[in-house]
Amino acid sequence: MTAALFTPFDLGPVRLSNRIVIAPMCQYSAHDGCMGDWHLQHLMSLAMSGAGLVVVEATAVERLGRITHGCVGLYSDDNERAMARTLLAARGVALPGTRFGIQIGHSGRKGSAQRPWEGGKALREGEDPWATVAPSPLPYDDGWPLPNALDEAGLARIERAFVEAAKRAVRIGFDAIELHMAHGYLLHTFQSPLSNRRDDRWGGSREGRLAFPLQVAEAVRRAVPDYVALGARITGTDWTEDGLQPEDAVDLAGRLKELGFDFVCVSTGGIALKARIPVSPGYQVPFAAKVRRATGLATRAVGLIVDPHQANDIVARGDADLIAIARAVLDDPRWGWHAAEALGVDTPRPPQYARVAPALWPGAALARPPERAALRQRA
Ligand SMILES: Cc1cc2nc3c(=O)[nH]c(=O)nc-3n(C[C@H](O)[C@H](O)[C@H](O)COP(=O)(O)O)c2cc1C
Repeated sequence: MTAALFTPFDLGPVRLSNRIVIAPMCQYSAHDGCMGDWHLQHLMSLAMSGAGLVVVEATAVERLGRITHGCVGLYSDDNERAMARTLLAARGVALPGTRFGIQIGHSGRKGSAQRPWEGGKALREGEDPWATVAPSPLPYDDGWPLPNALDEAGLARIERAFVEAAKRAVRIGFDAIELHMAHGYLLHTFQSPLSNRRDDRWGGSREGRLAFPLQVAEAVRRAVPDYVALGARITGTDWTEDGLQPEDAVDLAGRLKELGFDFVCVSTGGIALKARIPVSPGYQVPFAAKVRRATGLATRAVGLIVDPHQANDIVARGDADLIAIARAVLDDPRWGWHAAEALGVDTPRPPQYARVAPALWPGAALARPPERAALRQRA
């Protein structure tokens, strides 16, 4: 039997074996931007998840573009070597056809933060804080430092850093690269009127606010060969009246398509703590659907997609080409296998673990009772 979720998809030049994407997820476990053993086990495990594409976490294009001291980077040869070792190991155990992507970004005014389990607030004195950057000197929230407004030299430096990081990602051998343009980080703060109050050519109208993100996008597009899929994570809404709206997402996606981008992932929020977000299963899917229908660009939906039938319906309805899973796959790193079972699809498992297939192991039904899936749906 086939299910929409398990049909192949051409993400630009890259064939994916199914529509399941592991969303980028910071692990806050790097050392000066270098992946270590945590990443090795994390990505080797996700390589066997059954997803068509595994996206490596937000990776800082320069040292001060990290969110925390534990964030991964691609700003040094050591970073590149450590990531190459990790990708090689993950590919070594991956299910056939699994592709790997990476998200590159810059934290902007949300940088210099504690790891989530240390509080997730701005670093204090004694915690080695650093000066953050933004389009305008507006802090992320109360208690966050005032960022320095970027000047022309700073903008040029960051554009170069994006290009250099993308080149490193290509050298490492990623199949896909995505720019982080969402969640309140640097490229999002340029787009949103909530955070960009500039009156030069990098601010003001929508055109001005998009100018720097698009300049970076264009420069990265030139640097990335056409055998690598190139995309971006964008904002469907800031969830405030005075912030970005769904029409802005449609506009940005259309422009990225014109630049030769292969896909977008539509997320929301992350820029204003005051925003009230009506979180419920699949709550961001309508934004992805709007972008996909208006632009025809390959589109990924994300956000509380946890149940295989829900995921399959999103693709079958044409609301998105791909769905991304984040927390559900940390909870169940074999999500793809279990989704295939739930949808009655045969997908490969590593032969070493094949005996847990439901046909061979009666324990499968006991280990994954339906209440567990229902619980996840409510989480
Ligand atoms: C531990 C963790 C780390 C995350 N790190 C990133 C990241 O590096 N880049 C990003 O764009 N989103 C990041 N996110 C957001 C997820 O990619 C995803 O958009 C969000 O969790 C909603 O999806 P979910 O309901 O499937 O978890 C992170 C989420 C989690 C839980």
